[in-house]
Amino acid sequence: MADAKKKLSQQMVQQEQKYYAPTGRIPYYDMVIDHGEGAMLYDVDGNGYIDLLASASATNVGHCHPRVVDAITQQAQKLIHYTPAYMYHTPEIELVQKLCEIAPGDSPKKVVFGNSGSDANDAIIKFARAYTGRQYMVSFQGAYHGSTFGSLTLSAISLNMRRKMAPLLPGVYHIPYPDAYHEGVDHLSEEEQAAYFMHPLLEMCENYLPPEEIACIIMEPIAGDLGIIVPPKAYVEQLYAFCQEHGILFAVDEVNQGMARTGTWWSIEHFGIEPDLMSVGKSIASGMPLSAVIGKAEVMDSLDFPAHLFTTSGNPVCCAASLATIGVIEDEGLIERSRELGAYARERFEDMQARHKIIGSVHGMGLNLGIDIVEPGTRTKCAKDALKIIYRAYDEGVVMITIAESILRFQPPLVITKEQLDRALDVLDRVIGEVEEGKVPDDVVPAGKGW
Ligand SMILES: Cc1ncc(COP(=O)(O)O)c(C=O)c1O
Repeated sequence: MADAKKKLSQQMVQQEQKYYAPTGRIPYYDMVIDHGEGAMLYDVDGNGYIDLLASASATNVGHCHPRVVDAITQQAQKLIHYTPAYMYHTPEIELVQKLCEIAPGDSPKKVVFGNSGSDANDAIIKFARAYTGRQYMVSFQGAYHGSTFGSLTLSAISLNMRRKMAPLLPGVYHIPYPDAYHEGVDHLSEEEQAAYFMHPLLEMCENYLPPEEIACIIMEPIAGDLGIIVPPKAYVEQLYAFCQEHGILFAVDEVNQGMARTGTWWSIEHFGIEPDLMSVGKSIASGMPLSAVIGKAEVMDSLDFPAHLFTTSGNPVCCAASLATIGVIEDEGLIERSRELGAYARERFEDMQARHKIIGSVHGMGLNLGIDIVEPGTRTKCAKDALKIIYRAYDEGVVMITIAESILRFQPPLVITKEQLDRALDVLDRVIGEVEEGKVPDDVVPAGKGW
C-alpha cells in the first residue's frame, strides 16, 4: 500500500511507540484498526482488508458479530462487573453449564474462569499438582502456552520469552512435538512415526524422570504457533495411554485451536480422547478477556478457594459475549463451515503448491492451515520469502502473518464469505508467484518486522 494511503496510521503508530513498551507487540504492520465487520478490517485511513488472522484466532465468529455486540451492550446496561470471587451472576451461571455441556467426553466437568489463555495454563499446573500430589510437568518443544511465569515455562518457542527473567518454574520438561514433515519422517507409517516420537519421552522416563512423579503432560492437539501441525493420531493415542498407565493427567491447550477452529468444537476431538483438563481462551468470548479451565470434576475439586480466582475473571459482560459466541457457532453451523471451507481452501493451496515450488507443504484442519514457504523444491525454510509474501498480500488488502519462521498462518474468521475467501486466495496465489519469480524486492519487508 502506498504511503499516502496509510498516512494517518503511520503518524499514530509513531506517536504510540514513544509510550508503548516494545515487549508488548510482535511488530508486523503499521496498521491502526478503526473497525471490523465479519472477516473485514478497516484502518483509520479508510482502507479495507480481508482478515486471515482473526486476531490470532480470537474472533472465530467474525468481527463485531451483531449477536455478540447486542449481548455485550445489553449486559453492560445491566451490570458491567461484580466479581464471581464473592457472588454469582446470571451469565456466569449459564456459561459454566454450557461449557461443561460442550466440553469433550461424558465425565462430569467443572469450570474455573480466568482472564487470559496464559493464566488458564498456569491453572492447569496448579490443578495437576494438587490432584496428583506430584510436581513434574511435561510439555513440548516449540509450544506456546502463554506469557505468565507458569505458561511461559511450559512454552519453548522464543529466547526472548525467557531472556533476563530466570529463574522460571522448576520441574518442567519439554519433549519434541510430533511434527513428521519437518522432522523428515513423514515417509514412515503412522505407527512408526508414533514410535519415533514416543522415544524421547520413554527414554527420559527410563533414565532421569520418574514417570510416577509426573503430574501432567500438556499438549496442543494441533500445534498452533509451531506452524499448525497435526500430529499422527497413533502418537496422541500412545501418549494418552502412557499417561493412563502412569497416573499422569493429560491436559490439552485449546486456546488457539478450540472454539470450532479446526472443524470440531475442540481439536482433541479429532483424536477421540477425553482430556483431564483443558484450557480455553481467545475466541471463547470473541476476544473479550475471558479464559477458562474445564476439567473432570474430581480434578477441579482438588483445589480449595482462593487458590485460583481473579477479581475480574468471569466478568458478566465477557460471559454474556461468550454465551452469544457459542450460540452463533451453534446456530450458524460454524463447525461445519470451518470443515467445509477449510477443505476448499486446502484444495486451493494444494493447487498453488502444484504450481509454485516455494510451497513445501500445506497442513492443518478446518479453516486453520499452515503453508510452508521453502527454498524451491526443498524443505529448507525460507523466512525471507514468507515475509515478502505477507507484505505483498498486505499491499493488496489481505492480512496474514507468518509463524515458525516461514509458515503462512491461515486462520480467517469462520464467517468469511466464499467470495472474500476466493479474493484472498487469488491475491496469495498471485503474490506467491511474484515472489517465486524474484519480482518482489527485499525492501517490501520493513526492517525489524515479523517474529
Ligand atoms: C495455544 C495457546 N495457548 C495459550 C496462549 C496464551 O493466550 P493469551 O495470549 O490469551 O494469554 C496462546 C496465545 O497465543 C496460544 O496460542
